[in-house]
Amino acid sequence: MNKKTILTGIKSSGRPHLGNYIGAIKPALALAQNPAHEALYFIADYHALTTLHDPKEMRHSGYEVAATWLALGLDPARVVFFRQSDVPEIFELAWVLACFTSKGLMNRAHAYKAMVQKNQEAGVDEDAGVHMGLYEYPILMASDILLFDSHLVPVGKDQAQHIEMAADIAGSFNAVYGPVLTIPAPYINEATATVPGLDGRKMSKSYDNVIPLFGDPKKLRKLVMRIVTDSTPPEAPKDPATSSIFQLYESFATPEQIEALRGRYQTGLGWGEAKQALYEVLEAFLEGPRKVYDDLMAHPDIIEGHLAAGRERARTVATATMDRVRKAVGVGRA
Ligand code: ADP
Ligand code: TRP
Repeated sequence: MNKKTILTGIKSSGRPHLGNYIGAIKPALALAQNPAHEALYFIADYHALTTLHDPKEMRHSGYEVAATWLALGLDPARVVFFRQSDVPEIFELAWVLACFTSKGLMNRAHAYKAMVQKNQEAGVDEDAGVHMGLYEYPILMASDILLFDSHLVPVGKDQAQHIEMAADIAGSFNAVYGPVLTIPAPYINEATATVPGLDGRKMSKSYDNVIPLFGDPKKLRKLVMRIVTDSTPPEAPKDPATSSIFQLYESFATPEQIEALRGRYQTGLGWGEAKQALYEVLEAFLEGPRKVYDDLMAHPDIIEGHLAAGRERARTVATATMDRVRKAVGVGRA
């Protein structure tokens, strides 16, 4: 049987939040259950270096992302679970890919374009504060994806452009050397592509509007109560489709619970009650994993053990791809 390769990474630049879980971790874990899939999930620590320059925080964030995956059910016997910085072939391939990536393609990357626009609005040099790490971010990500012959990449919608770029870059390489690299495709669930944050915008560490997956349950309740709502009175019917509370609820509740809450939206309920219902399903879901998470964070050696095993398995694939790429390009010992 020809297995499909599923790969995704989470940047370790802060505590993982509900958006990461719903948009990437949950679909990735579901895909990994399928025996027709070979799954590789990793911690994108060198991607975090584009913004995170504190070594202690860097190490801690890496553990937070690793503990999150493990606590939420990643089975390291089944999934190749590794740290990006443990696989030097990623950085070797990144250089090769850079030689097949037009500068124009990188000029169109969302994160870079957003920086340029901000600079233009502030009336400063377009590239102020832009380092090459930010500019080349999509090439490093393409390398993560292409090195492992990934077919499907489960992510939230914000990452779709990066995966299209990886496909583009692989196409440019293959146009010269033949079908050496596998062309990847994004795997995005339209219903959960963009999870809303506390303020209704996309939940993101960069907007400071996140609900972290792990931490004190009292804090979790406080944050849920802070989700912005409109001023519709309790008795008025409410539209679940436009309610971020309902959207979050759907990812954690059973079908019966979802239908029951939908009914209450139609007959009218106070936003406070809706938030309480959301908090309850969240807490019921997170309570067990939180214990595993806390235990792993207290024993990073356990995390390191899993990552050491994953590193070996990842490098076996990585060195085979690099041999193929080097041969295609014509570098190294003949
Ligand atoms: P952040 O935007 O908070 O920095 P990351 O960029 O580290 O999050 O995202 C890691 C993964 O989680 C990616 O696949 C991304 O698409 C997904 N993701 C992040 N935020 C959301 C969101 N609000 N909705 C859906 N998916 C998300
Ligand atoms: N750039 C992704 C993010 O910010 C993280 C990431 C790095 C990734 N490499 C990847 C995701 C490869 C999928 C595949 O969320």
